Amino acid sequence: MSMNAVTLLYLVASVCFIQALKGLSHPKSARLGNAFGMAGMALAIVTTIALIAKQAPALGSDLIVGLSVLAAALIVGGAIGAVIAARVEMTKMPELIAAMHSLIGLAAVCIAYAVVIEPSAFGLASTDGALPYGNRVELFIGSFIGAITFSGSVIAFGKLSGKYEFRLFQGTPVVYPGQHAINLLLAIAAIAFGVGFVVTQAWLPFAVVTAIAFVLGVLIIIPIGGADMPVVVSMLNSYSGWAAAGIGFSLNNSMLIIAGSLVGSSGAILSYIMCRAMNRSFFGVLLGGFGTEASADGAAKREQRPVKSGSADDAAFLLGNAESVVIVPGYGLAVARAQHALKELTDKLTSKGVDVRYAIHPVAGRMPGHMNVLLAEAEVPYDQVYEMEDINAEFGQTDVVLVLGANDVVNPAAKNDPKSPIAGMPILEAYKARTVIVNKRSMASGYAGLDNDLFYMDKTMMVFSDAKKVIESMSKALD
Ligand code: TAP
Repeated sequence: MSMNAVTLLYLVASVCFIQALKGLSHPKSARLGNAFGMAGMALAIVTTIALIAKQAPALGSDLIVGLSVLAAALIVGGAIGAVIAARVEMTKMPELIAAMHSLIGLAAVCIAYAVVIEPSAFGLASTDGALPYGNRVELFIGSFIGAITFSGSVIAFGKLSGKYEFRLFQGTPVVYPGQHAINLLLAIAAIAFGVGFVVTQAWLPFAVVTAIAFVLGVLIIIPIGGADMPVVVSMLNSYSGWAAAGIGFSLNNSMLIIAGSLVGSSGAILSYIMCRAMNRSFFGVLLGGFGTEASADGAAKREQRPVKSGSADDAAFLLGNAESVVIVPGYGLAVARAQHALKELTDKLTSKGVDVRYAIHPVAGRMPGHMNVLLAEAEVPYDQVYEMEDINAEFGQTDVVLVLGANDVVNPAAKNDPKSPIAGMPILEAYKARTVIVNKRSMASGYAGLDNDLFYMDKTMMVFSDAKKVIESMSKALD
């Protein structure tokens, strides 16, 4: 295969990746976007294998062994990935992504080490075995970011899964005096050893840089509270892209540079969008502490107040007699896997002449687009689904708002209580509707650990039970 053909195929693969990102930005085109992503990756892998075979014909049987190992790794890795992806629950997606990022970071570190140990195998060294200075800088940056991504993602995975006893895996932030100063000192030490590596090309300073970066990855993530973890995962996603791009420069591989930059920049943009939707600053998230404040405050404020509760039949009666209904789906709906039952319920209401719409908060659930994916799975028509900024003005004229397993995203404290940890976070203004029905299993708090005044309002009726059971009962009552 000629180098021109390789460049052209890499270009086609890059266009596929860009189309993938574009497609994934809307539920309607998400499947096509995924298909583009898979096609681009397959093309990139096949082209890279062809490139290796072309560049190393002199290796003879070694090349065959190398390609066989590569094929075995692809088959085993691909099979493990496919099984995990098929089995993972939608609500466990953020931790799966964190686990995958850790592998990208580790891969970047491994490649950097391979290049440092044997630069000639990558065609980078001059006859005396010296790496060009530019490559040394790239390797330092690539392995540094890769190591931070690896250890940081492992901690993020542990915090997100919430099932390990290990202290560093707890959702509550780990804070200690001088934390930021220690991190700063470590970063300065890493840069100093990095400069040592760039000047000498010796492996020892390179190993020290990687070791510091592994520690730094842990120390940066442990003070961040569980509530901010999805943003952290998105930031680590961005880091993993930059690590891959850095290594792409070292390997002189344009595909890796382009794919890494796309991941790096899209992850950074996503982190920004998530921070904005939660009214958090980038630095606020990185400096940590949100989780503890939130739960401490929530626990303190949660006093015994009377709430009105009703049955699914009562709720069905209110819904059936309304002219307009807005449904607010949240994390609990995803946990209950009640999306199909909900579609059935709304079909019944629509056939009775009720105007039904869905209101989507950008950070409802546990990952961006979570609710959109959920509703798309149940084939809810897109014209019934409204983004927060389009529906907020409508709540005042809505007869009934049905809140299903959502909590923080409808918490009026974000608007009314400047001291609340979620103060300033944009919310769905469900409290403005004439009647509010809230379904959840108990009075437990949501992700941010806060009490919610919406539940105690005179116009609110709580329906306590699993979302799927409640929705199915409401559906039956409407027959
Ligand atoms: P939450 O505030 O987490 O509330 C979910 C509610 O669902 C809980 O109060 C829970 O109450 C209820 N629930 C759980 N299982 C249920 C079931 N089987 N049936 C019925 N109800 C059930 O959810 P939200 O309103 O969607 O807000 C999302 C939160 O995640 C926000 O704080 C947001 O900032 C945070 N977050 C989201 C993202 C993204 S990108 N989506 C990223 C970072 C952080 P019970 O236990 O009483 O049932």
